[in-house]
Amino acid sequence: MLLVVGGTGDLGHRVVRRLREQGNAVRCLVRPGTDDSGLLEIGVDVVRGDLTQPESLRAACAGVDTVVATATVIGRRLAGARTPSIHEADEVGMASLVDAAEAAGVERFVYVSYAGVDAALGTPLERAKLATEQRLSRSAMRTVIVRPEAFQEVHLAPLGRFDMGAGKIAVIGKGDTKQHWVGTDDVAALVTAVAIEADPPAVVEFGGPEAISRNEAASMAEELTQHRMKVQHLPRSVARLAIRLLDKRNDALASIFGAGLLQDLHESQCDDEPLRQRGIKPTSAGDYLREQARLLR
Ligand SMILES: NC(=O)c1ccc[n+]([C@@H]2O[C@H](COP(=O)([O-])OP(=O)(O)OC[C@H]3O[C@@H](n4cnc5c(N)ncnc54)[C@H](OP(=O)(O)O)[C@@H]3O)[C@@H](O)[C@H]2O)c1
Repeated sequence: MLLVVGGTGDLGHRVVRRLREQGNAVRCLVRPGTDDSGLLEIGVDVVRGDLTQPESLRAACAGVDTVVATATVIGRRLAGARTPSIHEADEVGMASLVDAAEAAGVERFVYVSYAGVDAALGTPLERAKLATEQRLSRSAMRTVIVRPEAFQEVHLAPLGRFDMGAGKIAVIGKGDTKQHWVGTDDVAALVTAVAIEADPPAVVEFGGPEAISRNEAASMAEELTQHRMKVQHLPRSVARLAIRLLDKRNDALASIFGAGLLQDLHESQCDDEPLRQRGIKPTSAGDYLREQARLLR
């Protein structure tokens, strides 16, 4: 039995679907009040609970061999949820999940972090991800840390202030640093693979097949839509200040500024080899943008 924590999320649901398609028994920890119908339809066993409720995590882990943790509270915080904070859910809550998994005799723990998590930008999400990676490094379970690059569907989309339809793109810093933007579905395929393959690596860092900068992506958007994009640049110094000022007041926004700054500071060091090794044919950033432009027509 695999337990997925975060199975109602964008990445998490894709992982659950793939695990079920491959015939695996899957349980999901779902927060009280969240719609579980999409999970029940595909034969998932649903246990209600929350990362901030340790007793629910103990019940969820009973009889489980592998835990896959994709959950993060950042999306709900951005949507206005006052509690829990990133510290409470992504850091303390994840530590409780690791404790519960160990106590239940779970053999493997797959955790979704991100590439560049060690860049020391000092955001709440970075602290939570690093603390969880460190907690897992002390565990006797077989642990797999998955570190994908920025997702195409988030950072090359309106949500990530890359709005081809409205012709508006925000860039932190110069925007010339190349990134291997990766498709969420390709990340899901890799997370699924390392959850079930016989001998998974301890850390897997990867991105999509094509490295392009945000400025190059913006030029591509102009060519594809035949419309001029209004590109708004925010200096790195302002992003650093925003991270510091928002740290306590708005942990999600501070972390979003951190993600943008990371994309400008951190030249992507990884490629799509871990995907190809597993037979996954990844979508390039260019193909993703071409498809988005086609949908806009
Ligand atoms: N976006 C990127 O570019 C990027 C890059 C690298 C890594 N990542 C990582 O990839 C993962 C993204 O996953 P996703 O797309 O599935 O995120 P998502 O769509 O925001 O979903 C978050 C999931 O976490 C669950 N959750 C939130 N708070 C919880 C709590 N207190 N207890 C239990 N579950 C809780 C949510 O449940 P509800 O549905 O009930 O809210 C939902 O299932 C994250 O770990 C993120 O840090 C993202």
